[in-house]
Amino acid sequence: ITAVDVIRAKRDGGRLSEEQIAWVVDSYTRGVVAEEQMSALAMAIFLRGMDAGEISAWTGAMIDSGECLSLRVNRPTVDKHSTGGVGDKITLPLAPLVAACGAAVPQLSGRGLGHTGGTLDKLESIPGWRAELSTDEISRQLNEIGAVVCAATEGLAPADKKLYALRDVTGTVESIPLIASSIMSKKIAEGSAGLVLDVKTGSGAFMKSLDQARELARTLVAIGTAHGVATTALLTEMGTPLGRAVGNAVEVAEAVEVLRGGGPADVVELTVALAREMLALAGLSADPAEVLASGAAYETWCRMIAAQGGDPEAPLPKPRHVHVLAAPADGVLSGLDAYAVGVAAWRLGAGRARREDPVQHAAGILLHAKPGDRVTAGEPLLELHTDTPDAVAGALEALDGAVQVGPPPERLPLVHEIVR
Ligand code: URA
Repeated sequence: ITAVDVIRAKRDGGRLSEEQIAWVVDSYTRGVVAEEQMSALAMAIFLRGMDAGEISAWTGAMIDSGECLSLRVNRPTVDKHSTGGVGDKITLPLAPLVAACGAAVPQLSGRGLGHTGGTLDKLESIPGWRAELSTDEISRQLNEIGAVVCAATEGLAPADKKLYALRDVTGTVESIPLIASSIMSKKIAEGSAGLVLDVKTGSGAFMKSLDQARELARTLVAIGTAHGVATTALLTEMGTPLGRAVGNAVEVAEAVEVLRGGGPADVVELTVALAREMLALAGLSADPAEVLASGAAYETWCRMIAAQGGDPEAPLPKPRHVHVLAAPADGVLSGLDAYAVGVAAWRLGAGRARREDPVQHAAGILLHAKPGDRVTAGEPLLELHTDTPDAVAGALEALDGAVQVGPPPERLPLVHEIVR
């Protein structure tokens, strides 16, 4: 096998054999297949696609490029992955809730890049909390508490790390076979027996249309199933931010409200819907709505944060500067665009432009109204939080046209479909 043969085969619309795929992914990881060769192959895959068998083999080869976590856990394991949204803090209340219902949730997460925030960036706003854990610490915490949210260990799917960075600079990110194999290689290597995917659709999502999101969801579920992981997907709405907080510390505060029995209705609804799917995969019959109301999930949250060095009672960082954006007119808020709010929060300092940049823990946006709520001209609509007042102009520019006051909006369901 040579790299040029594999590239030519895909360029001409052919099907790659399992052997070719295993060889090219392994050789690329070891530096034997060059970056320019993998760029050409990624573009050929982008243009020609891969069938279900190729995608499953590609995912397997990426898993085999590194280690698999061998978790020794005394309860059923089940995890959740979201394709990324604006104000999507669902992991924070969900992991302790599902743990309080009897499962073990090994949630290996990432940092944010671009307009969607990263779970680790949010949790790092809690004083003392640490994201890096060893495999032994992960296993111990899963046995004792049932939930871990931490950084993915270095050795998981190194082929994906290398390939994702290459796709980022070669215009080959937006390919369903490459996205699906990228996500699933990391999740399968983590060793969870069950997996629920939250595939977002709408302006704030990676997949803007429901049809694209459905295709991604079906591809993800097929890969999980082919690799022996019980997998289902929820297609969920991301046209407007989830909840009333977008950013880091503000999202942690909102998650804590939910865990204490309050919080915005949409965040509660999605948390409970995902918990139900996860518990069904784990074969557990607890009712997550009841467990949430009982306070048991909040107790698990406090133990989970404390186990990773955090103080769950400590005050969260406050921004140095708050800019208030007023409602432009009297009426009903008919639209508040998720993508615009995500970009604005990012520009305020909640997100990063380059992988190595720091984020501001206190940066973000608070929504005083959600689509469908009445607003009054001149009253606060959005609060922009930042430590760097110079960032406000860029955030306001991103929000230009994002707020609509007019007729009541069409009510979209939060959960569009379930793909099994
Ligand atoms: N998220 C991933 O992990 N990989 C992709 O390719 C796209 C989104």
